[in-house]
Amino acid sequence: MRIFGSLIVSTVCVAATWLPEVITRDVAIIGGGASGAYAAVRLKEDFNKSIVLVEKANRLGGHVDTYKDPKTGNWYDFGVQNWNDYGPAKAFFDRMGVPVGAPGRNVLASRYADFTTGAGVNFTPPANADRVAALGRFLNATAPYEQYFLPGYWNWPAPDKIPEDLLLPFSDFVEKYDIRDSVNQVFQVTGMGVGDMSNALTLYVLGAFGPPMMRAFLGQGASFTPDTRRNIALYEAIQTRLGANVLLSTVVTSSIRTNLGHTLYTKSADGKARIIIARKLLMAIEPTPANMEPFSLDQAEQSVFSKFKFSTVQAGIVAHPSLPINGTIINTPAAAAPNNYLVLPKPDFVVRFDHMGGGSDLFRVLVVGAGVVTVQQAQDMVRQDLARLIAAGTLPATADPAALLEFRAWADHGGMHMHASAKELRDGFVQKLYALQGRRGTWWTGGAFSVQFQSILWAYDDVLLPKMLA
Ligand SMILES: Cc1cc2nc3c(=O)[nH]c(=O)nc-3n(C[C@H](O)[C@H](O)[C@H](O)COP(=O)(O)OP(=O)(O)OC[C@H]3O[C@@H](n4cnc5c(N)ncnc54)[C@H](O)[C@@H]3O)c2cc1C
Ligand SMILES: *[C@@H]1O[C@H](CO)[C@@H](O)[C@H](O)[C@H]1NC(C)=O
Ligand SMILES: *[C@@H]1O[C@H](CO)[C@@H](O)[C@H](O)[C@H]1NC(C)=O
Ligand SMILES: *[C@@H]1O[C@H](CO)[C@@H](O)[C@H](O)[C@H]1NC(C)=O
Repeated sequence: MRIFGSLIVSTVCVAATWLPEVITRDVAIIGGGASGAYAAVRLKEDFNKSIVLVEKANRLGGHVDTYKDPKTGNWYDFGVQNWNDYGPAKAFFDRMGVPVGAPGRNVLASRYADFTTGAGVNFTPPANADRVAALGRFLNATAPYEQYFLPGYWNWPAPDKIPEDLLLPFSDFVEKYDIRDSVNQVFQVTGMGVGDMSNALTLYVLGAFGPPMMRAFLGQGASFTPDTRRNIALYEAIQTRLGANVLLSTVVTSSIRTNLGHTLYTKSADGKARIIIARKLLMAIEPTPANMEPFSLDQAEQSVFSKFKFSTVQAGIVAHPSLPINGTIINTPAAAAPNNYLVLPKPDFVVRFDHMGGGSDLFRVLVVGAGVVTVQQAQDMVRQDLARLIAAGTLPATADPAALLEFRAWADHGGMHMHASAKELRDGFVQKLYALQGRRGTWWTGGAFSVQFQSILWAYDDVLLPKMLA
């Protein structure tokens, strides 16, 4: 008996060391960026659901990247810059106990150069009054369509009722509404993330720079940041609220998804395996092939997502003595001179180098790809472009010609701005996309189902969550 008993005990002990922890919840949320972290708070606190949030990175916040300069102790945001005062945004910051204020603006001296040759470009941006007037016309032309895609495609028209304007290549839309003088601003603020912006469909340019953004620039709306000027403060507050319901540095490795519930096998960076059993699944990551791999998509899901194309965005902080303190050097094709505003860099491209101010030697740099670009490739593009700018004499050579470009921080934001063709849209793409909501007990949030703005994604979640729990 004694032997038998101790055998049982030792078997149990062995089992406990290798059996993965099992976590049972009402809802499993995949991705702790803008849409996933917000949904997690609301599901837990407002809808009284038990949740688990699975996040690949070692922190919440997705595209928010806040860097501490070890030399000065100052904080710099090189990902998300500010939040649009749209829908629930201000109330949510307030609720998370993060005070906000007007964003600080760095005024930088602009210089233009073609990064493919390094040569300076004699480019003249539109006069301020012309830019503002064009932006006003842009807002007037697009505000009537806002209801169709903000904060999501909930009221999207039937395929034969889609306004033709939304399916025009953006350059045609620009000519039709005489808004050339707005293009430079649209591109430099957020439009560049779309990739080949002048050929992108107007609908998707509006997903990067939509009516709420136009209102902010026309003084009819506002944007804000945390008072502390540390954008990550919001997501730190969310992490504190959610505590052990967040699994950081964790990914799903395989899954069984059904209408009745889900089994998700996860692995964390420290090698720990956990099994999540959840009634419902909320996907808050971009549905790129790589991201979807562990989620055993069925035929219907695969056929919808395979229609998506996407661009990629990487952001970093670099330092090099040739870069202009208090300046920005902007990648501008030679053919854009002197004012051909629709001539824009084509992906893959480095957008520009922006001095980050505050007496630092730091420059924010953005790299946009037409598809997957590795971090190594993106950084090589930055290195090569800088070398060309110096070789062409556009930037001064330094006393130490061997001075290396330093990468102080880097973030690969991966696939963004998922888009389908005009033909697919006319063939009911959005309807097919939204028909996935609730199929196989799975619900979808994030940029691919709405637009690329944090505040708007939160408003989208506000519509989605009651449907998901109905
Ligand atoms: C450089 C840059 C600047 C921007 N500036 C602004 C701005 O100023 N204002 C604004 O409103 N918007 C801005 N945006 C856009 C905005 O950040 C995005 O639209 C928004 O974050 C998208 O939210 P999301 O929930 O869809 O995805 P994300 O916020 O990207 O969240 C996805 C999360 O899922 C995680 N993840 C990915 N794959 C997996 C996986 N397989 N398993 C688990 N977790 C995974 C990621 O680590 C990430 O945390 C900016 C974007 C970039 C790239
Ligand atoms: C929240 O859910 C728990 C568990 O299902 C339940 O016991 C509790 O009464 C609920 N609370 C509210 C306020 O609905
Ligand atoms: C926009 O429309 C309003 C209302 O029709 C009009 O008063 C205004 O002049 C228009 N603005 C521009 C810039 O066209
Ligand atoms: C940059 O701008 C700051 C603030 O206006 C100023 O104090 C500083 O001298 C400038 N530095 C250079 C190199 O122009």
